[in-house]
Amino acid sequence: MTSYSLRSSSPAKTRADAVVVGVVATSSGPRLCDAADDVTQAYGRRLRAFLSTMGVTGKAGESVKAPTRDEVNAPLLVFVGLGDDAADPVAVRRAAGVAARSVPNAASVALALPADTPELVAAVVEGHRLGGYTFTAYKSAKAETTEPTDVVVLTSIARRAEAVAALEKAEILADAVALTRDWVNTPPMDCTPPLLADLVTSAHKAVTKGRGAPKVKLEVFDHEQLEEMGCGGILSVGNSSASPSRLVKLTWAPKDAVAHLALVGKGVTFDSGGLTIKPSSSMVNMKGDMAGAASVVAATLAIARLGLPVKVTTFAPMAENMVSATSTRPGDVITMHNGSTVEIANTDAEGRMLLGDALSLAVLEEPDVVIDIATLTGHMQLALGDKVGAVMGTDDQVPAVLAAGESAGEQHWPMPIPEEMKERITSSKVADLLQHDWVRWGGGLYASAFLREFTGGLRWAHLDIAGKEMNLGGPYGHVPSGATGFGVTTLVELARSLSEG
Ligand code: BES
Ligand code: ZN
Ligand code: MN
Repeated sequence: MTSYSLRSSSPAKTRADAVVVGVVATSSGPRLCDAADDVTQAYGRRLRAFLSTMGVTGKAGESVKAPTRDEVNAPLLVFVGLGDDAADPVAVRRAAGVAARSVPNAASVALALPADTPELVAAVVEGHRLGGYTFTAYKSAKAETTEPTDVVVLTSIARRAEAVAALEKAEILADAVALTRDWVNTPPMDCTPPLLADLVTSAHKAVTKGRGAPKVKLEVFDHEQLEEMGCGGILSVGNSSASPSRLVKLTWAPKDAVAHLALVGKGVTFDSGGLTIKPSSSMVNMKGDMAGAASVVAATLAIARLGLPVKVTTFAPMAENMVSATSTRPGDVITMHNGSTVEIANTDAEGRMLLGDALSLAVLEEPDVVIDIATLTGHMQLALGDKVGAVMGTDDQVPAVLAAGESAGEQHWPMPIPEEMKERITSSKVADLLQHDWVRWGGGLYASAFLREFTGGLRWAHLDIAGKEMNLGGPYGHVPSGATGFGVTTLVELARSLSEG
């Protein structure tokens, strides 16, 4: 485990194995950021030529290593690009993430990046921890790279309580994102609904054990209990699998709560499509279809660790969507938790069946706001790509999600729920609702209209993060290849904004 600390000492004098230095791209060439002033001085007039020879420009994503002689105490300098705005937390987080991957084998690292506000301190820590994230549990050849034991963030405000608090907060957030990534990266054979519920149970234990630890209530409902509760939607998906379904409920109810937030996350531990089977190429990454569930659980634990004065009630329905003799058929009619009936048209539109039940349960808790998050439709992946999430919901809640994403450094974009959708979702000839219709266009909007039926008219937003849960390309900024943890920081930020009324 890496330990992070703040220090106000100068980067040139720091005795670390490597010192990371932020470089700003200006119209007159690269310049070291203010935090690295004494490195600039140590090199003096030679700096310009030195940077130029090594091809350092300061552009975002860039990283160049240079051994030192006696200019500074550390034997290695790592120049990372900040782009042209050195005070932008998003740019700083990205640079810190790049830095984490650029120094693969140093025991101690000092970071001279813009960090003279609490917000920037948090960006440095979050970026470094998340950019250095690896998932090696299934690799037999153990790590060629080792994470540093000590990372020192060089900052002029090292002694200020706000800076220390920002560091602690950033570590809690990074823990939550890393936890989500671990679960999403885990092979589906080791992440069936019962096993995922076990993972949640251990994570919950780790957060709530010991004196002074936050109190979070955990309930895990099994298949029989789901039957008693009337969760026909969850069971209609999970009935196809040899692994029974689960529903995890977490409650964080601090005495000083000023608002009540309900979180709901899709936990399809593997999505084969069911009888409406997916083509093989679309099935490849469907272990990530539980990312919504992972993110609401991780966010809830983080909110509790942060001690935010918001009550949070979280539901994570978990089921595996498989092909078997007991699979739900197109044409079947399912009775949902709220009593409404749904005609199944496509067993690959399974997420809404889990979410419908869980939203209905969430509404019974009488929260002020309901947020659901799900890898719900390929339509939203097609529309917005792999980095921007879709948000739909009530007009009074969607802007709050967009604002939270903005502060958290995640991009979300509003999508509409057109009026015609109401008619389409109620167009079944045999049941109250039609789960899916064969109009190819706007499937993500149809899904949102379907979910809305289960939200009881409360303030609500639906985050469709399909395609955002996994980065299928190479690493960038604080995002590694594989599971991303997208959405977690937005959820925590949303709770924080609710706590401020
Ligand atoms: N889990 C998928 C959505 C998905 C797609 C997640 C790509 C991550 C990446 C979801 O259950 C699904 O199969 N959706 C269908 C919806 C359709 C049947 C209305 C889809 O995307 O085609
Ligand atoms: Zn799915
Ligand atoms: Mn599906």
